[in-house]
Amino acid sequence: QDKRESLYVLSTWASKYFKEQLWDTETGQSIALSYFKERGYREDIIKKFDLGYSPDQWTALADTAVENGFHKDYLKEIGLAIERDDGSIYDRFRGRVIFPIHNLTGRVIGFGGRTLKTEKTVPKYVNSPESDIYHKSDVLYGLHFAKKAIKDNDVCYLVEGYADVLSMHQAGIENVVSSSGTSLTSGQIRLISRFTSNVVILYDGDAAGIKASLRGTDMLLEEGLNVKVLLFPDGNDPDSYVQKYGSTAFKEYIAKHQEDFIFYKTNILLKDTGGDPIKRAEVIREVVESIALIPDEIKVSVFIQQCSHLLDIEERVLLTELNKIRIQKA
Ligand code: UTP
Ligand code: MN
Ligand code: MN
Ligand code: MN
Ligand code: MN
Repeated sequence: QDKRESLYVLSTWASKYFKEQLWDTETGQSIALSYFKERGYREDIIKKFDLGYSPDQWTALADTAVENGFHKDYLKEIGLAIERDDGSIYDRFRGRVIFPIHNLTGRVIGFGGRTLKTEKTVPKYVNSPESDIYHKSDVLYGLHFAKKAIKDNDVCYLVEGYADVLSMHQAGIENVVSSSGTSLTSGQIRLISRFTSNVVILYDGDAAGIKASLRGTDMLLEEGLNVKVLLFPDGNDPDSYVQKYGSTAFKEYIAKHQEDFIFYKTNILLKDTGGDPIKRAEVIREVVESIALIPDEIKVSVFIQQCSHLLDIEERVLLTELNKIRIQKA
C-alpha cells in the first residue's frame, strides 16, 4: 500500500513536470503547445485535461525525478523510464505530447504520449505499461471528467481515442469516455454501468472502427446495456469531424445518425451481400446471435420483432434460430 502511494505521488509529480515543460519552456511552447493549438484545442481544454510535453532528450524526466528524490525503481515500475541491459535508464515518452490518464477520483495513474512526427515508422501513441496503480482493462480515459454528465444525461458516448474525448468536451459534450484503442473489456463496461445503462458507440469511420463497434456492441448487450451506434463518414473520427465541421454540425450529425444496434449491424452486414440469399441467411444468423446475448427477455422479443420487419423474415423463423443459438451456447 505504501508502495502504491509512492507510485501515485510519482505519477502526479510527473504530470506536473510534463505540464511545466509544455507551458513554461520555449521548446514546449513552440513545439507542443503550438501542436495542440494547430489541432484546434483551446487553452481551457488543454489545461482541464492536464496535457503536457515530454522533452526530446534521453533522460530529462528521469534525471529531474532522481534529483527530486524519486527512486529509479519506481520510475521503471510505472514505466516513465525504461531500463537498458547495462542497467541505465531512459525516458519512455521522449519528444511526445502527453495525455495523463486519471482514475475515477482524479488521480493520475498513467500516461499516453503522442508523437509529433508524421513518419509511419514510429508508433503514433506510446502508453504507460500495466503497474500496481494502472490496470488498463479497468480504466476508461476521461471517465473522471465525464461521470457527472453521464449520470445527468443518462447516456455515455464511447469513443476510440484521447483526441476524441477532448474535442467532444470542447464542443460541450462531456458525457464521453474512451477505451483508448484497446478492445472494450468487461471491466470497462462495469465502470460505465455505474453511471448509466445507455451507450452510444462513436468509433472511427474506418474498417477497424466498424469491426470494433460490432464487437463492442456484443459485449455491451451481454452486460445488459442498451446500445446505439453511429458511423462517421469518410473515415472521420469524432475529433476530426468536430474540428472540420464545427460543434453545431457535430451535434446535429450525432443526433440524426445514431441508430439502434440492430439497424446498424444489419445494414453494415447487408452491404456486402449483394442480394446473395446464402449471404443473407448468414446476416440474419449474425444479427440473431447479437440478440441472443441480451439478458432481458422483453428486450429480446422487441428486437426479434424489429429484426423480422427489417429483414422481412417471419418472427417464428428468427425465434427458432434464437433458440438454436442458445442451446449451442448452453
Ligand atoms: P487512432 O489511431 O484512431 O488515433 O487510435 P487517434 O486517437 O485518432 O489519434 P490522433 O487523432 O491521430 O491523435 C485510437 C486510440 O488508440 C490508441 C490511442 O489511445 C488512440 O487515441 N492507440 C492508437 C495506441 O495506444 N497506440 C497507437 O499507436 C495508436
Ligand atoms: Mn462478461
Ligand atoms: Mn482508429
Ligand atoms: Mn481515431
Ligand atoms: Mn483522430
